[in-house]
Amino acid sequence: MLTISGLFAGYGSGDVLRGVNLTVQDGSITCVVGPNGAGKSTLLKVVSGLLRPRVGSVTFRGAEIGGATPRKILECGIVQVMQSRNLFPELTVRENVELGGFLLRDASAVRARIATVTEQFPIVGERAGERAGQLSGGQQRMVEFARALMLDPALVVLDEPSMGLEPRAAAMMYDSIRQMRDNGRTILLVEQNVRVGLGLADHGVVMETGRVRLEGTGAEILANPQMRALYLGGTIEEGEVPAGDRGR
Ligand SMILES: Nc1ncnc2c1ncn2[C@@H]1O[C@H](COP(=O)(O)OP(=O)(O)O)[C@@H](O)[C@H]1O
Ligand SMILES: [Mg+2]
Repeated sequence: MLTISGLFAGYGSGDVLRGVNLTVQDGSITCVVGPNGAGKSTLLKVVSGLLRPRVGSVTFRGAEIGGATPRKILECGIVQVMQSRNLFPELTVRENVELGGFLLRDASAVRARIATVTEQFPIVGERAGERAGQLSGGQQRMVEFARALMLDPALVVLDEPSMGLEPRAAAMMYDSIRQMRDNGRTILLVEQNVRVGLGLADHGVVMETGRVRLEGTGAEILANPQMRALYLGGTIEEGEVPAGDRGR
């Protein structure tokens, strides 16, 4: 569904991403992990159009989207939920969710989508008139997810969605991600909690210093001794990655 090849991108003159190759399969959860500064958020920004690739290509359903505007990418069916809190705290829950439908034709289309996303996220109905800022962190995340689904995206991009959530709220959030996948959406996720993220994922990807260093099922990656080196602050030596781990 999404294919990234030979991707170089960064800020100003330096490249943060230095030759990223990655394929996200339709209907799967792909989880990207890696140390701080590896370029995970930068990769997601390229996918959602917030950052232009310097070199390389990003194709979505066969069409090149690298360097397209964020709006164009939204219209293609890719929605990103940002890393930090991003509801408007003074607006109501419903108003926040409505904003997610800004590309829809008219008010009746917006109402129809709100009814649909409220089925998946009942809090949107239950707390509709309350200011979003009154909700707990976990509840706000659910509202952010609901807002992201307003355009019925095919690919949902999530940057560290568990950040700042208590364990119970995080567990509910992960259930929602699974539910999105089970409803036919494709998920590209960055997760700081490596065990949980890879446990959830159909496909796991380890990034380090702007490149993909390991790929495989979540279980394969968790079992890989090189993962330990990476998370103890070491690096994976060039050439040490078995060919089988670079598959897909
Ligand atoms: N807006 C920015 N301007 C300049 N450098 C940035 C910016 N955002 C991130 N970086 C740098 O890019 C590198 C990768 O960052 P990032 O993609 O956020 O990593 P990760 O999400 O894996 O922790 C870091 O060295 C970071 O300092
Ligand atoms: Mg990040």
